[in-house]
Amino acid sequence: MVKNKNNQAIWNTRIKKQISSTFQKIGSSINIDKRLFKEDIQGSIVHVEMLFKQKIISFRVKNKIIYGLKKIQNEIIKKKFEFNMNYEDIHMNIEKRLFQIIGDDAGYIHTARSRNDQIITDLKIWMRSNTEKISNNLDNIIKTILKISEKNIETIMPGFTHLKNAQAISFAHYLMAYVEIFLRDKKRFKNSLDNLNENPLGVCALSGTSFNIDRKYTTKKLGFKSPTNNSIDTISDRDFVLDFLYNCSVCSMHISRIAEELIIWNSDGFNLIRLSDKVVTGSSIMPQKKNPDLLEYLRGKTGLVYGNLFSMLTILKGLPLSYFKDLQDDKEIVFKANDTLINCLRILNETLINVIPNKKKMYELANIGYLTATDLADYLVKNHSKSFREAYQITAQLVNFAEKNKKKLEDLSIQDLKKIEPKLTNDVLKVFDLKNSINSKKSYGGTAFYNIKKMILKYKKII
Ligand code: ARG
Repeated sequence: MVKNKNNQAIWNTRIKKQISSTFQKIGSSINIDKRLFKEDIQGSIVHVEMLFKQKIISFRVKNKIIYGLKKIQNEIIKKKFEFNMNYEDIHMNIEKRLFQIIGDDAGYIHTARSRNDQIITDLKIWMRSNTEKISNNLDNIIKTILKISEKNIETIMPGFTHLKNAQAISFAHYLMAYVEIFLRDKKRFKNSLDNLNENPLGVCALSGTSFNIDRKYTTKKLGFKSPTNNSIDTISDRDFVLDFLYNCSVCSMHISRIAEELIIWNSDGFNLIRLSDKVVTGSSIMPQKKNPDLLEYLRGKTGLVYGNLFSMLTILKGLPLSYFKDLQDDKEIVFKANDTLINCLRILNETLINVIPNKKKMYELANIGYLTATDLADYLVKNHSKSFREAYQITAQLVNFAEKNKKKLEDLSIQDLKKIEPKLTNDVLKVFDLKNSINSKKSYGGTAFYNIKKMILKYKKII
């Protein structure tokens, strides 16, 4: 294990007294930001290459620093690096170790740079690659949904509004709604990459630098689009953090919606789906129980992700421009939201694979609650030249009649139907068939089987 030589802070010439040990403990962020070591080293290497190109440091010093940084990266990867709380954060830990490895030439690394621009650079690079990770996890869910949908195009269930049976739909159509939702999430994350595209490196503490640096060079090397335009704004800005947290929150909210629906459908009252034993837990006292704990976990974690968004918004509220220690917490907040979301995306994927639709129960429930009433009203408009409002009233009377006589619409005799609308003939009976009802919804985006098949094909091609 490599040991740091001494525990002195970089500023110990100016600040004479040893920092209070309590503050040293709580003020140190190394346990959190050590996760950014790769990004930090990547930024440092590009920085010293630029310093050399601009003739600010020598070839020899540049090479020595890069050698040292690569060695440190190796040590960290191999878990041979000792992170030290006395050095506050990842930047200080790396710099201190660099001194041990290459000696005093390490002192050149922080020329024309501050930890203030360094940390934002690190975080932006990290967020960029992590967005890809989130996106891949969303893709996995979308693929799973497409697979289940393919098998359930003709699985008929009630669609709900107000959680009351509304109109018949295909189970696949319901699932495909979440393809749209998760594709939107992907797009939201991707759109935010634009705000990550500006390179903060080189704005230094808050005002820029007197060295003749080349920010365009570091921008290109680090994969950014352009350098940020105002040094003070750059140091103060955490809007990109808020964007990321908001995106995580919206995505979590979506996960909580599907989780809640599946919890309801899995309840004994609804019994529309079953969860395989892989994704349920038992009760410590009730031997018969199979509880949808994982889905509840997903629903609950949304609160944690929202909490992170609100923490960051609150930290930024009223904060004057430029750097304050308040900002240091952004990493912990981002990592928590990110890790929770990634975890939830994985769990959701696994849970979806283990959902078994109870097709019989779905069909039975779709036959309760006069789900074809709108079809009947539409039929009257199309075949008996009624206005929709007139047709609506006639249908409502028929539903009232059926309900009073404890019958389904399709069980009414043609004589009963004619009592309320004399023009009706036997031909009307076809509208009470749920499959016909579903297949009549051919309008773009509607639940007709043909539409769903086409959508599944379309998305299978792009995912
Ligand atoms: N670890 C610090 C953070 O995350 C880096 C910036 C420190 N800057 C300072 N002036 N104390 O915010």
